[in-house]
Amino acid sequence: MDPSDVDVRHAIEPDRLPQLLELYAAEWWTEGRTVGDVSRMLAASDLVVALVHRPSDRLVGFARVLSDDTYVALVLDVIVASSVRGAGLGALLMDAIVRHPRLAAVQSLELVCQPGLMPFYRRWGFTEQVGQSHLMRRTSDPRLIKG
Ligand SMILES: CC(C)(COP(=O)(O)OP(=O)(O)OC[C@H]1O[C@@H](n2cnc3c(N)ncnc32)[C@H](O)[C@@H]1OP(=O)(O)O)[C@@H](O)C(=O)NCCC(=O)NCCS
Repeated sequence: MDPSDVDVRHAIEPDRLPQLLELYAAEWWTEGRTVGDVSRMLAASDLVVALVHRPSDRLVGFARVLSDDTYVALVLDVIVASSVRGAGLGALLMDAIVRHPRLAAVQSLELVCQPGLMPFYRRWGFTEQVGQSHLMRRTSDPRLIKG
């Protein structure tokens, strides 16, 4: 897929929600999310990035950010549709996040990822050097705490 055929947008319109649920259904940590929960989540997210393939009007990538606009912003749910990976759309998502004016003055951008994705995120300056910090989590989702 040619990234020049893809628009970067900052909203998921209600009629595109099924396409987001489709992206979510394919990933281990988002599989099973419901329309109601995802609608509420979108309304409460500070920044969403939607990649829309213009010729087909399909959602081909998505990411979102929670932020206090000052000290910290958390990058979540970075997903490119599996059929179009490797074409630069993940880079488009991450560029749109790190260059977004709302995040320009935020001190720290944070994210959680699997070890295999660390080289991907290092391209945008993310580092696993976090001092003595450790991620701790309290969750009702068993997928997020299994080894
Ligand atoms: C991670 C993901 C978003 C990358 O999307 P993508 O469209 O394939 O990425 P791109 O094609 O833009 O890749 C950009 C660059 O990063 C590199 N890259 C992509 N995935 C990588 C990985 N896992 N490790 C190292 N480098 C990677 C590409 O080779 C490319 O390098 P290049 O510019 O030298 O060619 C995509 O693989 C995905 O959706 N994975 C499943 C969901 C997921 O696990 N998301 C992360 C949640 S933390």
